[in-house]
Amino acid sequence: MTDTHLPLPQLLLVDDEPDLLTGLKRSFSKRLPHLTVLTSASGREALDIVTKEDISLVLMDIMMGEMNGLEVLDRIHNINPELTVIIMTGYGTIELAVDAIRRGAWDFVTKPLELDSLTRTLTKGLERSHLLNENKKLRSRIGSGEPVTDFVGQSPAMQRLYRTIQTSANSEYTVLIRGASGTGKELCAKAVHALSKRSRKPFTMVNCPAIPEHLLESELFGYRKGAFTGAVRDHAGLFFQANGGTICLDEIGDIPVNVQTKLLRVLQEQEIKQLGADTSSKIDVRIIASTNADLESKINEGKFREDLFYRLEVLTLRMPSLFEIREDIPLLANHFLKKARKELNSSKKGFSKRALETLCKHTWPGNIRELQNVIRRAVLFCPDPVIDSQHLMIESSVPNPGIGLRQETDAEILPYKEAKNNCLDSFTRQYISTLLRKSNGNVSLAARLSHLSRAALQKIMHRHTIDGNQFREQPISLQK
Ligand SMILES: Nc1ncnc2c1ncn2[C@@H]1O[C@H](COP(=O)(O)OP(=O)(O)OP(=O)(O)O)[C@@H](O)[C@H]1O
Ligand SMILES: [Mg+2]
Repeated sequence: MTDTHLPLPQLLLVDDEPDLLTGLKRSFSKRLPHLTVLTSASGREALDIVTKEDISLVLMDIMMGEMNGLEVLDRIHNINPELTVIIMTGYGTIELAVDAIRRGAWDFVTKPLELDSLTRTLTKGLERSHLLNENKKLRSRIGSGEPVTDFVGQSPAMQRLYRTIQTSANSEYTVLIRGASGTGKELCAKAVHALSKRSRKPFTMVNCPAIPEHLLESELFGYRKGAFTGAVRDHAGLFFQANGGTICLDEIGDIPVNVQTKLLRVLQEQEIKQLGADTSSKIDVRIIASTNADLESKINEGKFREDLFYRLEVLTLRMPSLFEIREDIPLLANHFLKKARKELNSSKKGFSKRALETLCKHTWPGNIRELQNVIRRAVLFCPDPVIDSQHLMIESSVPNPGIGLRQETDAEILPYKEAKNNCLDSFTRQYISTLLRKSNGNVSLAARLSHLSRAALQKIMHRHTIDGNQFREQPISLQK
């Protein structure tokens, strides 16, 4: 989703005064260097350019000789209904400008032109075009079933995820991404940012548990020189650095309660008070939080603020486990094979049928990350051109009780308790997923089928962050 390979956006200037065109082109090449400026002295020529070129924005005089600006405007929109057109109007022609807006012009500026405000209007117009363009691309990708951003996967659960990511990206709400380890939570956070209107602004990923507890507050919110011993200079903090963009607080369940309180304030007031500062400052950052923890249990234990939880989970995105999207395993495996071939400069050709079967039968407690690692390892160690099942170093059977590398020879024995928990975890996931698939996500029916009480089943689903909606046909809906 980077813009580095994209051609520069093109601005088309239309005016029948050649001097004005030359003057504006010169000014814009300095003020808006990321634009290519094309000019046209007539409406007819402008239409020709709009037909042939990929124009992002048109700045056009409304009073032109041969073809009146309103007529040109209509014809431009016949060619490209979403093109952003800004009209230039002279003194005494405001009514014409109003008419132009009614007929689909996006904005107007009045002559004599004031360059600062004109530049601002053009920048906003470009943002609009960029957004419309991104939405258009996304619509066509979703329509064609093509995955969003770097995601691979075509299963119904992934398709639902793509749609929910898009809905979330179109809004400014706080998003809570939930899912087990290795399911793609970070990828998902990046996709929400990349598809949002903030995509050109910074995306900041904060791995909360990686920052020592006593530093987390100052790292997030910043401090002023002298706020505490060792604060020798002002420090903006991660929130300020992310201003205008998106911040993702990874593993939010692990942050201490005092930092949770401060975070709640940021969410409520959209302002930040740096340590040692007298006043708060407004801030415009979209917050995404992700976790694989059971936040509800943490709330019951008093380790997570309930009010913060409700603020965060305005939109909840649940990542499916790899087991739930196991029909995507061949696709994902080939994707990771291609990546590993590049990383390791290898020429492995592919998987044998047996290898793919083994991959599909495995239960993947470590989810997509585990699959990626298994394939990297196979590419590295497999001596043959085609990867066969024995090179994968995994057992095809359901739950392996915790032998790290899963091959007798180089087995790494996990502590008994950890191994048993892994095994139970895999079993429960598999059981509940099959059950819910059978009941089409209907929890009451699933409870009857499994001879569990509804409450007991819900508790298990909660503990394993399994969402019944993922097994329904309709898309996952917004939480509030
Ligand atoms: N659907 C997918 N398609 C392609 N690659 C994926 C997909 N999901 C995850 N990955 C890749 O798998 C790896 C793990 O994903 P990610 O780091 O986003 O998971 P996570 O849920 O944040 O894991 P953890 O809880 O361990 O931090 C990454 O290399 C990511 O690029
Ligand atoms: Mg992660």
